[in-house]
Amino acid sequence: MINAKKLLVLAIAGMLGATIANATGNEALIKEGRKVFTTKKLGNCLACHAVQGDAGIPQTGDIGPKLANLDTYPKEYLFNKIWNPNKTVPDSVMPPMGKSHKITRHQVDALVAYLQATTKAK
Ligand code: HEC
Repeated sequence: MINAKKLLVLAIAGMLGATIANATGNEALIKEGRKVFTTKKLGNCLACHAVQGDAGIPQTGDIGPKLANLDTYPKEYLFNKIWNPNKTVPDSVMPPMGKSHKITRHQVDALVAYLQATTKAK
């Protein structure tokens, strides 16, 4: 028979497993987002944006605002912003890369994960 103590140990092990899986899954997504951000044929976002907290990429993009403190924005807002900037700013020069199928939904999710993890308010 399984006793309460054993159940507790199993529950904790399960939770730990889930946490570790989440952390590594997120790491991969963040890394992918950085790649989409910096790759010319994908997002090429760095052409227009500097990024707070990522000294490893060129900070010369100055057509759009420097991306900062995006962990304070709702994920959904960022997703929609990247999917189709014209929805909130009709005359935005930022191209609607999701809507025009230049990048996939998954790649937009990856960009959001990268930006929220990297530009955390200090
Ligand atoms: C041609 C230049 C250009 C490119 C390329 C570009 N952006 Fe932008 N971006 C802008 C401009 C200009 C704004 C401000 C106007 C607006 O909000 O639409 C902006 C706004 C944003 C915002 C909102 C920032 C805030 O503080 O509200 C986010 C997030 C963003 N861009 C992310 C991205 C990502 C991710 C990519 C790549 C997939 C990208 N941008 C590509 C020009 C660009």
